[in-house]
Amino acid sequence: MSTRCTMLATLQILILLIVSTLATSNVKPNFVIFLADDLGIGDIGCFGNDTIHTPAIDSLAKEGAKLTHNLVAAPTCSPSRAALLTGRYPIRSGMASALAQGVLSMITTTDCKAGLPRNETTFAELVKAAGYATAIIGKWHLGTNLDSSSDHYFYPVNQGFDYFYGMPTTLINECGPDGRYIAWFIQKRLIMGCCLWSLAYAVVLVVLHLLGVLGRRGVIIIGFHIVLWLGWNYASHTVLFRQFMCVLVKNHDVIEQPVVLDTISTRMVNQANSFMERSATQGPFLLYFSFLQTHTALFNMKNFTGSSKHGKYGDNVEEMDWMVGKVLSKLSELGLAENTFIYFTSDHGGALKEVSVLPPRVGEREGGWNGIYKGGKGQNWEGGIRVPTVVRYPPMIPRGIEISVPTSTMDVFPTIASLAGVDLPSDRVIDGRDLMPLLRGTMKAPPHDYLFHYCGQWLNAVTFTSQKDNAIYKLHYVTPNIPAGETDCNRTMYCPCIGDETTRHDPPLVFDLRRDPAEQRPLPATNDQIWNIISRVDEAISQHRRSIVPVAHQITKETLAGSFWRQPCCNFPFCSCQEDENT
Ligand SMILES: *[C@@H]1O[C@H](CO)[C@@H](O)[C@H](O)[C@H]1NC(C)=O
Ligand SMILES: *[C@@H]1O[C@H](CO)[C@@H](O)[C@H](O)[C@H]1NC(C)=O
Repeated sequence: MSTRCTMLATLQILILLIVSTLATSNVKPNFVIFLADDLGIGDIGCFGNDTIHTPAIDSLAKEGAKLTHNLVAAPTCSPSRAALLTGRYPIRSGMASALAQGVLSMITTTDCKAGLPRNETTFAELVKAAGYATAIIGKWHLGTNLDSSSDHYFYPVNQGFDYFYGMPTTLINECGPDGRYIAWFIQKRLIMGCCLWSLAYAVVLVVLHLLGVLGRRGVIIIGFHIVLWLGWNYASHTVLFRQFMCVLVKNHDVIEQPVVLDTISTRMVNQANSFMERSATQGPFLLYFSFLQTHTALFNMKNFTGSSKHGKYGDNVEEMDWMVGKVLSKLSELGLAENTFIYFTSDHGGALKEVSVLPPRVGEREGGWNGIYKGGKGQNWEGGIRVPTVVRYPPMIPRGIEISVPTSTMDVFPTIASLAGVDLPSDRVIDGRDLMPLLRGTMKAPPHDYLFHYCGQWLNAVTFTSQKDNAIYKLHYVTPNIPAGETDCNRTMYCPCIGDETTRHDPPLVFDLRRDPAEQRPLPATNDQIWNIISRVDEAISQHRRSIVPVAHQITKETLAGSFWRQPCCNFPFCSCQEDENT
């Protein structure tokens, strides 16, 4: 009797075990990757901000892990995004640039003949091959067209995403909701550009006429052309800029031109939620939710306007958090909160140069807050590359843990591969590491001994995690020159990476980040220990350099020049339309 009982009980346990292993091994996790734009590490509640309200992101940290030393692979948009999607340093994919700006920027056109090469494998392609449904909602910024304005060669639909709803490029000030930026621009241009130049041209024409060089007909013809030219110049910098740069796309089609920002947050949430709903019944999915926030132009839906304690920027952050909350509620509603791996991060640190030029907010900060960290967007000081990151995956990640060893956004790619049970591409170097052993607590060792920090194509700094002395060192070989008393360099946009406006450090500046996270006091290179660190990192750099296969550079003067005639247009010749939300 008792033996039978024990046998039965054992059998029961056995069956339970089999069933539960079957259940966990059969159900592939879903992935939701949230990416904020230009958000600083000091902007989020769970990263120490006590006046900004980010309950949704904070809840992810409470129910999962907070990564306090997570680094991006580049301090600017396009290369950082390329690295997130591919798990590789941008230098390997051709997304590291020799130009100072280093991002895909399209002057007066969305078209620029460059982007993330198609032979790079994105995390969407990786899981799509394993039967996942994939979507990107929001900002892409990794290329548009190659040979014609309609080949969409670099679009996300050609990089593993089944569905795309968002902006192929980036948000810019000209897309601003109330057009006040444009008004300010027009005002300045009109006075400086149109009026002064017109006056100068008129004087020259009259003088030439009086001298008898030019007849009346000549004056009229040349005058007419000057007016046309000035008009065009002025229009292309203002109205056209907004019309052609600020487009909303669904898969291949422009569905809104220019994008209407005051309702975009709700529409993006609805798009994400209906994608998850559609997919949930069929199989696993991957959602890449790439916010337009918190890049300028800062926009808000009506009820978030003035809701924060930190001006338009704070409102923008809080609205983004609300969007995160909406997606999380949908996951719970669908019963998928447990089986979904969620990763929230930013593409790099807050932009120090973003300050309002519009009255009455002249001088108000419009960029992210990088907390105690030095520098910001475009720089390899911690403020430019350390990003606020939280990860939740209840089956494997304990609640409320904190990971303080250096990790990288490139780790997302191999982590997704490991959880989805797919092999990594074997024909190329993957620089990211599977984070699961660290997040589950089965491994304490840091996943990266060395992380290399590029500014464009130039390796300017290295983070070295030394297990032996339980320390994290940061070595700077080249730093941008920053005027005394300032936080950013004297450039309109990005700091230079090499040349006259930078300083080369030989020996490099060495910081002990555990003791000095704000990079204020370089260690004196006087003792053997420091020289030992420097020589180990030098060796790591040579090894890293040897692993790089030269590829064609994407972001060059030629590719960025684009063509003004290749503009997106939803209804030629008007190129102006609004999304019909009923379709
Ligand atoms: C919180 O974020 C706002 C907006 O970026 C910033 O102005 C403020 O200084 C931050 N507060 C703290 C304590 O970091
Ligand atoms: C704004 O409105 C949405 C509903 O459209 C609501 O969910 C959200 O909580 C509101 N936010 C604020 C700050 O009032």
